[in-house]
Amino acid sequence: MKYYLSYAHEALREQAFEFAKTFQLEISDKNLPRLHLQEEGLVLLDAKAKPIKLDWNDAAFKQRAKGQTGTDPLIRASLAGTKIHILDMTAGWGKDSLLMAKAGATVTLLEKNPYMAALLSDAHAHLDDKLLQSRMTVIWQDAKTYLQSLKPEDFPEVIYIDPMHPVREKSAQVKKHLQVLQELTAPNDDVKEMIEIAKKVAKKRVVLKWPAKASEVIPPQGRLMGKTIRFDIY
Ligand SMILES: C[S@@+](CC[C@H](N)C(=O)[O-])C[C@H]1O[C@@H](n2cnc3c(N)ncnc32)[C@H](O)[C@@H]1O
Repeated sequence: MKYYLSYAHEALREQAFEFAKTFQLEISDKNLPRLHLQEEGLVLLDAKAKPIKLDWNDAAFKQRAKGQTGTDPLIRASLAGTKIHILDMTAGWGKDSLLMAKAGATVTLLEKNPYMAALLSDAHAHLDDKLLQSRMTVIWQDAKTYLQSLKPEDFPEVIYIDPMHPVREKSAQVKKHLQVLQELTAPNDDVKEMIEIAKKVAKKRVVLKWPAKASEVIPPQGRLMGKTIRFDIY
């Protein structure tokens, strides 16, 4: 599959070619969806050419982080309130990673889709909160390949998995972002394999975010319930 990048004007040409090299994108303004580099950073032009930016300084992100406390099931399940290393196998928009880093953890974000990985890198580079920025690392790679090549001294305490699932939450905000992800990526049919690989590497636990009512992938050792989702702990 080919992935594309265009740029707004000639002054951005060099930077665009750098991005294209890093994420193996073809420079073209003919195809959709594609990435588009403009003065303010990268945007994704979706199938209808609607621009979508990933901005971690955005008020909506800050608002969500504000309401989140040590009692939040994500933070409790992932142990993010302590100074541990969490590896997020499915970074997506990086929302969960951002919350876990905000709670105190160091987070490695793995993303296999080059468009999402490029948007994550751009959001990370533009993050105002430098402490938060220093706690996060974005890597464009398939998480299963990455974990299988990890040395024991680099094993994280916790591995977090939020795979693409055909049935998900339906709030307007989630819907918009989810629609884009569904355009770009296929549902994960390898969740069991992801958990099995993660269990061999995580020093403390593996956490799977899963729709609240969906049947379990593998019987978990623990479970924390959210409103529409739950966290299964292995
Ligand atoms: C449901 S989204 C994750 C949303 C994320 N938790 C958030 O807060 O924004 C799933 C993401 O995982 C990525 N993904 C799926 N399988 C992967 C794998 N094996 N390695 C790396 N990324 C993967 C998909 O490309 C997609 O972007």
